[in-house]
Amino acid sequence: MTTQETRLQAAELLFPADFVWGAATSAYQIEGAVEEDGRGRSIWDDFVRQPGRIVNGENADVAIDHYHRYRDDVRLMAELGLGAYRFSVSWPRIQPDGSGPVNTRGLDFYSRLVDELLERGVDPWVTLYHWDLPQALEDAGGWPSRETSKRFADYAAAVHDALGDRVRNWSTVNEPWCAAFLGYASGEHAPGRREPAQAVRAAHHLLLAHGLATQAMRAQRPDSRIGGCVNLYAISPETESEADRDAARRIDGLQNRFFLDALLKGAYPEDVLIDLDGMADFTEDGDMEIISTPIDMLLINYYSRFTVSGIPGGAASAAAAPTDAGSPWVGSEAVSFVQAGRPVTAMGWEIDDTGLQEILLRLAREYPSVPLVISENGAAFEDVVGDDGVVHDRERVDYIEAHLRTCHAAIEAGVPLRGYFAWSLMDNFEWAWGYDKRFGLVRVDYATQERIPKESALWYAGTIRRGGLNG
Ligand code: NOJ
Repeated sequence: MTTQETRLQAAELLFPADFVWGAATSAYQIEGAVEEDGRGRSIWDDFVRQPGRIVNGENADVAIDHYHRYRDDVRLMAELGLGAYRFSVSWPRIQPDGSGPVNTRGLDFYSRLVDELLERGVDPWVTLYHWDLPQALEDAGGWPSRETSKRFADYAAAVHDALGDRVRNWSTVNEPWCAAFLGYASGEHAPGRREPAQAVRAAHHLLLAHGLATQAMRAQRPDSRIGGCVNLYAISPETESEADRDAARRIDGLQNRFFLDALLKGAYPEDVLIDLDGMADFTEDGDMEIISTPIDMLLINYYSRFTVSGIPGGAASAAAAPTDAGSPWVGSEAVSFVQAGRPVTAMGWEIDDTGLQEILLRLAREYPSVPLVISENGAAFEDVVGDDGVVHDRERVDYIEAHLRTCHAAIEAGVPLRGYFAWSLMDNFEWAWGYDKRFGLVRVDYATQERIPKESALWYAGTIRRGGLNG
């Protein structure tokens, strides 16, 4: 019996043979070693030290110590059969102050990591910015400053120059919505500013940074595959009332279309510019062409659906911050977020794989021709360690399985979906929530740093082996 026949028998919902099965992490959330090998400070190093910013006052100085344990972690990935691993490079390890000469000791860490991955047959997917801006650049204005975009392009080119011989798949900025609006409007994330107009500038400059970096990397190696990464939500109005439908239009506008239209159509949506009421008037000639430089793939992080109402007075955001934060919804602060009654994860996020279906079909329809990759999808639950020492996280298995079914259906319907990365490979530092929320397929005992695959990891490994899902 050939391998292909075995797979066909084992998995009834078979994915394409070249489908990428991966898992993801990010530098600040896992590495620790914040003072080693010449690493500079990032905005998160400073932010976590401010009282009241992080649940339980935690920080990621040690995190899950991946900087020292990366070899074991890569072995674990290989044991699980991961085809690809998406990780991010920490900018302050490469340029401690955000510009100038490269710190080779910092770069060497990623070079060793890439070699280790390749040796074990796991394809490295590099994200260049997962929120850890060098503090020196924030001191000089941060993302609201245009200069930061230019600094980012230099940094991206330096990393790409060093690793591009071994890394084929690249993404520029992870979730620019979060970096801009949680960082500069609600203040839930570093640098913790609450300046709505500056947040809009930050969003534009994060997109510009993406475009400039894409151009710089393309000039170095035309065969690199480069993508932009967005966090998309399915959005529903609570009722069919005009006010609720307008609320849905606004939130879809700022969350989804602002980024998609800029990246893939080269223009911000007119209605969103009106909602922003002149706040986006700093765009310079040529910016939109740079931002919409053709990309090889769009990376999508999907977690949930928002149900919204135009009647003020509800929750400020369905993804509410654990700390006292403002609204990230610049121009639409009066919109309320409603729980629609679906089961929720430990984050309070409603579980809805139909939202992913909606998004994938919409992308294929409204933004055709760009291949898609799910670069994050997953869930935090209140994991309990069983008597056998293992977390039997059926809820996480169900969550991932439902979303993978959706992916399969989308592919069948002709959506150019090329891969799926579970968030996250291992439990880690969940930003403002500290270590309180566990997203990992692999449990980390924070006292001993022991890694113990959860049931979901074993289930995912089986799914990868079979190349698909059981009926
Ligand atoms: C998106 C972010 O990219 C990641 O860093 C975060 O941990 C997950 N979502 C879960 O909130």
